[in-house]
Amino acid sequence: MSRTLKGLVLSGGAGTRLRPITHTSAKQLVPVANRPVLFYGLDALHDAGIREVGIIVGDTQAEIQAAVGDGSAFGLEVTYIRQEAPLGLAHAVLTAAEFLGEDPFCMYLGDNLLRDGIRGLVEEFTRSGPEAMILLQHVPNPSAYGVAELDGERVVRLSEKPSEPRSDLALVGVYLFTHAIIEAARRIRPSARGELEITDAIQHLIDQGLRVEPHIVTGWWKDTGKLADMLEANRLVLDVIGHRIQGELTETSIEGRVLIEPGAVLIRSAVRGPAVIGAGARIEEAYIGPYTAISDGCVVRRAEVEHSILLAGSRIEDLDARVEGSLIGKGSTITRAPALPRAYRFLVGDNSDIGIV
Ligand code: TTP
Repeated sequence: MSRTLKGLVLSGGAGTRLRPITHTSAKQLVPVANRPVLFYGLDALHDAGIREVGIIVGDTQAEIQAAVGDGSAFGLEVTYIRQEAPLGLAHAVLTAAEFLGEDPFCMYLGDNLLRDGIRGLVEEFTRSGPEAMILLQHVPNPSAYGVAELDGERVVRLSEKPSEPRSDLALVGVYLFTHAIIEAARRIRPSARGELEITDAIQHLIDQGLRVEPHIVTGWWKDTGKLADMLEANRLVLDVIGHRIQGELTETSIEGRVLIEPGAVLIRSAVRGPAVIGAGARIEEAYIGPYTAISDGCVVRRAEVEHSILLAGSRIEDLDARVEGSLIGKGSTITRAPALPRAYRFLVGDNSDIGIV
């Protein structure tokens, strides 16, 4: 008899590839189309009929907990599980062993986005009854991912970021497991990078002769752990947003699909969607171009921004060149300094990345 699946969402980790944003914030809370990326995953679990969800948290526990609460806003019952350090995805499974018990579960990496959700996948897993089901997608650069090798409907080998990949099938950050994976995770040793790898635990299942099935994802999938992917995810989600104007517009033109939240003020500006402008934002004599997400309380004045994400309370003013392909951290300011000498003046956090023409 099949049991109801639990959800295990991984929201710990170090987030080194998204520094400096992750020096101060959880990467799972960076917004995509003005909504934390983690929320899309929680919705996907709910949509697949999952109600009991454990969220693995690390140093950013307080922030994640403040955003998600008890999960009721998502129709979920959430338990927070503290992982002492980001020691790998299989380590996260072991950390959650008590929460998971004997139940099958869906492990969902909190910074991943899947266009088509996971409902079909959960149904297939329940129907077919393997020990594990992994999601795969054909990618042009497999050596950047965990890679799977198939023999028909079976997965025969997995390798983590192989230098000579044996297929172009990358592991997507969503997995379905029976509790057999917990025992497998206990059996493996840390990898060369010092982590307990989920790929090794799954390989252990395969080596035991247990059934591991692939499921190829055809809709888009994004792991938002890096800037370029985060911007791409923003673009993909904005591509399907609706059109709703609730702010206050004065001498402002709007083209295409645009969401403007209540309390936003736009004066003598032009917005070309798809774009979203958060509550209380102020856009003055500015151009907001396609694929831009402006969070609550931002200011854009006498500047042009496109294909970018501005986090809450950031400010861009009086720039000659257009800002594009950028992720601007919370409360940051980019402006022209009035004083001479004509020079750049910065107060820049660690691991920042600035490009100047
Ligand atoms: P990764 O993106 O693989 O790792 P990371 O968050 O440490 O980031 P970076 O490589 O840039 O340093 O992790 C995928 C997801 O799983 C992410 O949401 C963080 C989470 N995670 C944990 O919760 N615990 C862990 O031990 C690890 C490695 C990741």
